[in-house]
Amino acid sequence: MDDYNAMSRRAAELVAGELHANPEAVIAVPTGATPQGFYAQLVALHRQGAFDASRLRVFQLDDYVGASADDPHSFYAWIKRDFLDPLGIASAQVTRLRGDRADIWRACHEYDAALRAVGGLDLAVLGLGGNGHIGFNEPPADPTSATHSTALSAETIAAHTRYWGEGIPVPSRAVTCGMANLLAARRQVVLVAGAEKRAILRRMVDGPVSAQVPASWLWRSAGCVIVADAAAWGRAPGVI
Ligand code: F6R
Repeated sequence: MDDYNAMSRRAAELVAGELHANPEAVIAVPTGATPQGFYAQLVALHRQGAFDASRLRVFQLDDYVGASADDPHSFYAWIKRDFLDPLGIASAQVTRLRGDRADIWRACHEYDAALRAVGGLDLAVLGLGGNGHIGFNEPPADPTSATHSTALSAETIAAHTRYWGEGIPVPSRAVTCGMANLLAARRQVVLVAGAEKRAILRRMVDGPVSAQVPASWLWRSAGCVIVADAAAWGRAPGVI
């Protein structure tokens, strides 16, 4: 796509089409800088009647350990602001991934059981971490991993300071939907924007499948589509 807005629009059209075709879809969606335009466009398409969100089932993709739902930095608060509330998605339609639970292992286990009970993800909308992470599946990643808590890498913590603000410590651990669930999704739409993602996108697409680049597993899944802007793709624009 030739610029960020066009990339966001294309991604929103793709996802709106998927949701129109399957109004009961089981989906996971990302936070971060990349999807901001996508959410704005998706909400606009929803207002125009492109799809019905009243029966969607949303599984939270990831969150920081220790961040409560009331914390505006939590990923739950973030998707509520950008996605759940604007689309009128009720909390009963959402399975949270609770980084604020005392027993994180149990929280992950219950999340996986709930996801299994609905037959897995139909659609995973994802961003690409600067180190190749998908969700918070940090390298080295295990493609068979269940939902789990993980230490965040120094690179990811540094990248996330912009969301917390100067002087506010970024949590050192996160919970994430496991690679096994993301790889099993029937459709994965990966949003990538900006020149700073170009090198890792190249490694995802052209490099060997490697635990060091978790996204490289995803790219080999039959359902994976990348929507990138020209700055990230560095070649003729397009949906890859
Ligand atoms: C966030 C998430 C992360 C981000 C990735 C890119 O829910 O799962 O994998 O998608 O860190 O973040 P941005 O878009 O801020 O560069």
